[in-house]
Amino acid sequence: MCDGVRITDTSDLWWKSAVIYCLDIETFHDSDGDGIGDLGGLARRIDYLAELGITCLWLMPFYPTPDRDDGYDLTDFYGVDPRLGTLGQLVEVIRTAHDRGINVIADLVINHTSDRHPWFQASRRSTSNRYREHYVWRSTEPPDTSELVVFPDREDSIWERDERTGEWYLHNFYKHQPDLNLSNPEVVDEILRVVGFWLELGFDGFRVDGIPFLEQNAKNAGDTGLEVDPHELMRTIRSFLNRRTGWSMMLGEVNLPHEQQLAFFGGDAADELQMQFDFIGMQATYLALAREDAGPLVTALQERPTIDATCQWATFLRNHDELTLDKLTDGEREEVFAAFGPEPEMQLYGRGLKRRLPTMLGGDPRRIRMAYSLMFSLPGTPTLYYGEEIGMGEDLEADGRMAVRTPMQWSAGRNGGFSSAIPSRLVQRVVPDGYGPEHVNVVDQMHDPDSLWSFIRKLISIRRTCPELGWGTWTVLDQPEPRVLVQRCSVEGSAVITVHNLGADPVTVDVPVDPDDAGLEAVDLMAEELVTGGPTTRIALEGYGFRWLRVRPAGDLAIP
Ligand code: NOJ
Repeated sequence: MCDGVRITDTSDLWWKSAVIYCLDIETFHDSDGDGIGDLGGLARRIDYLAELGITCLWLMPFYPTPDRDDGYDLTDFYGVDPRLGTLGQLVEVIRTAHDRGINVIADLVINHTSDRHPWFQASRRSTSNRYREHYVWRSTEPPDTSELVVFPDREDSIWERDERTGEWYLHNFYKHQPDLNLSNPEVVDEILRVVGFWLELGFDGFRVDGIPFLEQNAKNAGDTGLEVDPHELMRTIRSFLNRRTGWSMMLGEVNLPHEQQLAFFGGDAADELQMQFDFIGMQATYLALAREDAGPLVTALQERPTIDATCQWATFLRNHDELTLDKLTDGEREEVFAAFGPEPEMQLYGRGLKRRLPTMLGGDPRRIRMAYSLMFSLPGTPTLYYGEEIGMGEDLEADGRMAVRTPMQWSAGRNGGFSSAIPSRLVQRVVPDGYGPEHVNVVDQMHDPDSLWSFIRKLISIRRTCPELGWGTWTVLDQPEPRVLVQRCSVEGSAVITVHNLGADPVTVDVPVDPDDAGLEAVDLMAEELVTGGPTTRIALEGYGFRWLRVRPAGDLAIP
C-alpha cells in the first residue's frame, strides 16, 4: 500500500478509489423488444447506475460475434455487434456515462479471435497466406495437452488439426477461438490500433482478457520459432496507452500466483497493468465465509505483494465465469463446495461454482450484507457484477457459466422488465422461482429503505467517502476472536476501522481505536453516531454483524 498520498495523485489515478460495475449489454435492458439487451436499453439505465453510485462501468464484449463464447469470440475488433446497436449509440452511452461522472472500460480480447474472423479465414487457407502468421500453427503432431484445456467438458486438446493445410492451430480456449500469434509485430501493431481506436471513441481503459494464456501462448509458439514475452507486450500496450491519453487504465484478468501477478504489475517499474483482480483474495473470502473464520482471508491479504502506489487490486465476490476455486487446495475447495454448492449441478469443471452469492448464503440477508460489507472494506477497488445489488440468483438449468448470465431483473412485470418480447425470444430465460423477478427486482427494492439495493447504495456512498481503503496502509488489528476481522486502513493521519463478524453468533470485541491515547474517537459511519472515546472500544456485534468506524480527533465535527 502507499503512504504520503498527494492531491495531485488522487486527481488522476481514478481507479484507486473507484467502484466498478460490470455488465453484459445483451442481458441488461432491451429497448426494442427483440429479446436482446441493447445499447438503447443501457443508455436509459445510465442514470440508474449513477443513482446506485458506481464510478466505473466495465462493458463485457460488444463486438461483432457468432456468440459461441458470449462475445469473447469476436469477428471484428472495430465494431459493435448489430444485435446490440450501433457504434454511434455506444459513443452516446460513453458520453452519457461521463456526464454522470462514470468512467467506462471495455473488455479487450487479445489472446484469440473467433475462427470466423477474416484473419483466421485467410490464415487457414494456405501455409503461405499473408495472414498465416497471425495465428500459431504447427506442422508436427502435438503432444497430449488434455491437462491444459480450460473447458474440459468441450475440449481435449489445445491444438486443433485443420483439414485444409493438415497443420494444427493453437486454441487455449474453445477450438472456435484460435490464439493470435502475439510474437508477430503485425498483430501487435493491430492491437495497438484497436486500443487507440476505442480510446479515441472515449473509453477510459480496458479489462484485459485471459492474460495467463499469453504466457501459455509463449510456451506454445508452435513451429513459428518466435517467442512471445507477455510482459514486453503489456509494456508496449501500456506505454502506448500513456502516450495517447495518460489517464486510461488496464485491469487485467490474471488468475495467477502472487509472484506472477506482481510481475504483471511491472514490479518496481509499475509499467504494465495498473489493476488486477484479486482472485486469491476472492477465493480466500469464500473459504473464510464457509469456515466462519477470518483466518484464510487474513493470510491471503497479508501475502499479497506490495504494489506500486499507482497500482491497485480489484476486489470482487462474483463475475460472469464460474466462481473459480482453483487456488485453494483440494481439501479447501471441498469445504467450500460442501458449504455453498454441494450438488453436482451447482459445480463446474470440478474447480468452481455456478451459483451467485445470495443462494450460496441460503438467502440470509444478514450474511449477504456482511459479505458485501466485507468485500467493500478490503484494501482495493470493489467490483460488482450486475444484479448483485439486488441479490439476483442463478438459473442452474442454464448451460455451464450461463447460469449467472441471466437477464437483469428490473421489475416484477413481464420478463422482469428486461424486455417486452415473448419469453421464448429472450436471449436467455429470466431466473425462475424463488429468485425470480416477482421476488427480486430493482423497482421494489429502490422503494424499500431496508432492501439489499438500499444497503448496497449506502455501502457505495460510504465507501466513496473512505479513500483510506483505496490508498491507505492496511493492517489487521489483533483480537482473540477468529471469526472476527478487524482491519485498519490509514493514510495521512486519517483512518477507517472495519469490524466484521463472519460467524452466526453474536460476539463482543475490544477494538484499539486510540491505543496511544492520542485523543482520538470513532464515529460509526453506518449509524452516523459516536461510538467511543478512550484507548479501546468495546464493540458488540450481532451474528454476521459489522461496523465501519472513522477515526478522528475527539470532537472534530468537520470529519464525518
Ligand atoms: C476469460 C473470460 O472471462 C471468459 O468468459 C472467456 O470464456 C475466456 N476468457 C475466453 O475469452
